[in-house]
Amino acid sequence: MSDGSPDTRILCIGAGYVGGPTMAVIAAKCPDVKVTVVDINPERIARWNSDRLPIYEPGLDGVVREARGRNLFFSTDIEAGIREADIIFVSVNTPTKTFGTGAGMAADLQYWEKTARQIRECADTPKVIVEKSTLPVKTAQAMKRIFDAGDHENRFTVLSNPEFLAEGTAVNDLENPDRVLIGSDETSAGIHARDRLVDIYARWVPRDRILTTNIWSSELSKLVSNAFLAQRISSVNAISALCEKTDADITEVTRAVGMDSRLGNRFLNASVGFGGSCFKKDILNLVYLCRFYGLNEVADYWEGVVHINNYQKERFVVNMLGQMFHTLSGKRICLFGFAFKAHTGDTRESPGIFIAKRLIEEQAELIVTDPQALESARRDLADAEGRVQYTEDPYTAAAGAEAIALITEWPEYASLDYERIFQSMVHPSFIFDGRNLLDHRRLHEIGFNVFPIGMPALTHFHEEHDMRA
Ligand code: UDX
Ligand code: ADP
Repeated sequence: MSDGSPDTRILCIGAGYVGGPTMAVIAAKCPDVKVTVVDINPERIARWNSDRLPIYEPGLDGVVREARGRNLFFSTDIEAGIREADIIFVSVNTPTKTFGTGAGMAADLQYWEKTARQIRECADTPKVIVEKSTLPVKTAQAMKRIFDAGDHENRFTVLSNPEFLAEGTAVNDLENPDRVLIGSDETSAGIHARDRLVDIYARWVPRDRILTTNIWSSELSKLVSNAFLAQRISSVNAISALCEKTDADITEVTRAVGMDSRLGNRFLNASVGFGGSCFKKDILNLVYLCRFYGLNEVADYWEGVVHINNYQKERFVVNMLGQMFHTLSGKRICLFGFAFKAHTGDTRESPGIFIAKRLIEEQAELIVTDPQALESARRDLADAEGRVQYTEDPYTAAAGAEAIALITEWPEYASLDYERIFQSMVHPSFIFDGRNLLDHRRLHEIGFNVFPIGMPALTHFHEEHDMRA
């Protein structure tokens, strides 16, 4: 902002996991662009303005500190933000609908639509509107219709710019993206708006990684990327069930498979199931869309990815029940990790939620530990008050427990003193490693009965007990 007035003013509506980090990186990379992030939630905004950011994301504090107060601002004044901005990113939440038609499947677009109407009412100059939230295909068209209603025609140009960042690596993903995707209309206004956004990203992203497409391809690519990634995990998890029956080892199988350069070796870790705010929601959006167009076979195919994920989570609980002598009633069970993956405090769709609730149904006493996600865990399990305790210290959590279920692959769980943990637990002691993170042989030597995912169990029982439930 050399002369004190920025060339471009960006507004982002929605200061969540996507909006916050994305805008912080844009502001850090483009000091001459004024970036304002607004939200209806005043506590969230207060935290963005404090030293304790509302989300945990490695490296984010430094990026926010660099730009905040210089060209990055967090505010609750949405209307002023809209009036001032040239480019408005919309990054409000789009959860799966819980009511009416499409409940449990389609995206709930009420937040998006409210925002679109608010933009239309407040804007008195032309605006470029950028869809950042994951949205069902053709949302841009619906939005355009809202914007164009009445005498507002042609003042708004809608772009689709889906975000591909993964939580826990958001800053790096934003600073070094595999690609940036921008969808626009082929009209001159669409192309002009698209080029403005390309120029912003081109400050730090090589131009050959900035893809421009039509708007529908851009919207669909986001759903398909997440569907492919989730499908890969469900494929591995499905095979992990077969490995447990046949004494094959899923880590050996995925290593062999992943060395095929056509497949690649990343994203092949068997787990207790995938979580996160995107995978399930985006697949269900895809399924809903296919059914809407009468493509039932295609819909069934993709729905299978979610079915396998549910099966994997249920299988984990059923195995615990079977191995622990078919009753968990009154038994103290410790969950190592509650976040949906390591390096985040986010628990949305975490397999931990499902597993905790199922174990409570079995009348187990739970103790949950996680370095970042206990605040969210308490909210997620609010209905189970009295049945769950929380502690940040894994040693305290495991003391007196009969079993540890490892839900999140926090690296620190690999280097705990398991001798000490074993001594503090009730015997026989069980470890169900839902991430294949731990040294199973060593745990077995210490005395644990060890149940990994997709590889033979290591127990101290006679053979008939070794059979999987
Ligand atoms: C995902 C996409 O990766 C990202 O591009 C998109 O923008 C948003 O959705 P995210 O949900 O943050 O990102 O995390 P991701 O790393 O993809 O993991 C999703 C889930 O899959 C987690 O629960 C993770 O533990 C699980 N997972 C991942 C596995 O079980 N095995 C793996 O090999 C990889
Ligand atoms: P995501 O992971 O997609 O970023 P989040 O739930 O983390 O989703 O963030 C979405 C944010 O959008 C929340 O902070 C929520 O308060 C905000 N939000 C929802 N509706 C509106 C609205 N109409 N105006 C401004 N902010 C909104």
